[in-house]
Amino acid sequence: MDFYILTLFPEMVKQGLHTSIIGRAAENGLLNIEAVNIRDYTLDKHKKTDDYPYGGGAGMVMSAQPVYDAWKAVTEKIGRRVRTVYATPQGEVFRQEHAKEFAGEDAVIFLCGHYEGVDERVLEEIVTDYVSIGDYVLTGGELPVMVMIDAISRMVPGVLSNEESGRTESLENGLLEYPQYTRPVEWNGKRVPEILLSGHHANVEKWRRQQSLIRTAARRPDLLETADLCNDDHKFLSLYQKQGADAYNK
Ligand code: ADE
Repeated sequence: MDFYILTLFPEMVKQGLHTSIIGRAAENGLLNIEAVNIRDYTLDKHKKTDDYPYGGGAGMVMSAQPVYDAWKAVTEKIGRRVRTVYATPQGEVFRQEHAKEFAGEDAVIFLCGHYEGVDERVLEEIVTDYVSIGDYVLTGGELPVMVMIDAISRMVPGVLSNEESGRTESLENGLLEYPQYTRPVEWNGKRVPEILLSGHHANVEKWRRQQSLIRTAARRPDLLETADLCNDDHKFLSLYQKQGADAYNK
């Protein structure tokens, strides 16, 4: 999958995305991540990429021309128009479903804004998706774009090893993940739950499902409204709410 990032800070995104699992996938040729410096496309003789806002007000606005020309150069290189994501707190909030959906594309362009924003006319011309990573305001779009690319990339077949992708994970089934433990069996006076040492696969699975339900109810109860729950899940949750830990193994 090809990612093109239009940015004023190409070094920032290159460094952020060329390490660990995403870096390995890029080296293996599964992902191609290109940072395109918007400044390289400005026609201004002082290499300016922003200007004062019409109507007054604080801050600067990124000019349409360099953003458009950078986008056009990338689009011509790809050979067709592809989805173009603008990272903005005014967008729809990015979720795991979006990561999966974007992973089905061959190529995506991301635009990182800065200052007070980007001239609306170029956004109207090029942007297909306005996406936020949450209800808070960052200084620029680079971090949100790195977050989205990381989440999308791990959904691209082959990016995670079998072992990595085989794990049931937080949010994958609409629930938070159960707690994990590794050696030693006792640490700081706390033992690993006995059931995990039992070797009884079915009981371990049942315990993990129950832990996922308890954790989701405690930390993200909103997720229970849309999670895929079976009759046993509903039964366990209502018992747990009435009886607490006594609901286990019933
Ligand atoms: N740019 C600034 N803040 C942002 C946010 N929360 N999400 C996406 N892009 C942004």
